[in-house]
Amino acid sequence: MINLDTELEKMLIVGNLASKVLDMIKLYIKPGISTGELNDICNLYIEKKLNAKSAILNYKGFPKSICTSINEVVCHGIPDNNRYIKEGDILNIDVTIFKDGFYGDTSKMFCVGKVSKIASRLCLVAKKSLYLAIKNIYPGIKLNTIGKIIENFVEFNGFYVVKDYCGHGIGKKFHDNPQVLHYYSDYNNYVLKPGMAITIEPMINTISDGVKLMKDGWTVKTKDHGLSAQYEHTILITKNGYLVTTLRDNEKIDFII
Ligand code: MF3
Ligand code: CO
Ligand code: CO
Repeated sequence: MINLDTELEKMLIVGNLASKVLDMIKLYIKPGISTGELNDICNLYIEKKLNAKSAILNYKGFPKSICTSINEVVCHGIPDNNRYIKEGDILNIDVTIFKDGFYGDTSKMFCVGKVSKIASRLCLVAKKSLYLAIKNIYPGIKLNTIGKIIENFVEFNGFYVVKDYCGHGIGKKFHDNPQVLHYYSDYNNYVLKPGMAITIEPMINTISDGVKLMKDGWTVKTKDHGLSAQYEHTILITKNGYLVTTLRDNEKIDFII
């Protein structure tokens, strides 16, 4: 729980720092750069410019400071100096920052040059599913309502919601309770109250919801080698509504079909 009188400001600050990393790295995303280089640029920026720490570095042994998940990688891709991005790739960068006792967690898709129609539609549907869920939040909403909104929208658009990974409580801990499923479950009737903070981070696939964990113990890929896309924000429930702590400059949570 976040104390909305004394701790809200710190949640907003750390969320804003995380959002700045995604804005900053955009300029560097070009064919020919490696995900290892993108990692190093982000880490330097986080430590030297933002005076903060990556919560991902060394988290349960994760070796890098951001996650870079390309094309059929669903999540937790490990930045690699030998993995070069190329025209047509879709890339998720996931950033989690720790500062002054609090966490902010956010990710978005980047399209490298011109991408296929299905790839760009997948990214758009992932983004809209997150925005639609956020727009519907109010203190008192059940988590399975959020899950249902995402699942219905994604399936209506012909894509599949990943079931094996979910959003989470966040605040003074990186991964806290509750689990935030991106699909409907009867049991998931947990009620959001003022002072709670969660992430919503739907992963959606083109061919099926099947995923498999690679031998490195981190990288998650689609089972069928179809494409996957994800967007993530950190959301704090307030007395009358919510705040998206990781909202980027110029980002508007609007929802237009
Ligand atoms: N930021 C990811 C999330 O959204 C978690 C990354 S932790 C790692 O929860 F160790 F896998 F990198
Ligand atoms: Co994240
Ligand atoms: Co998260």
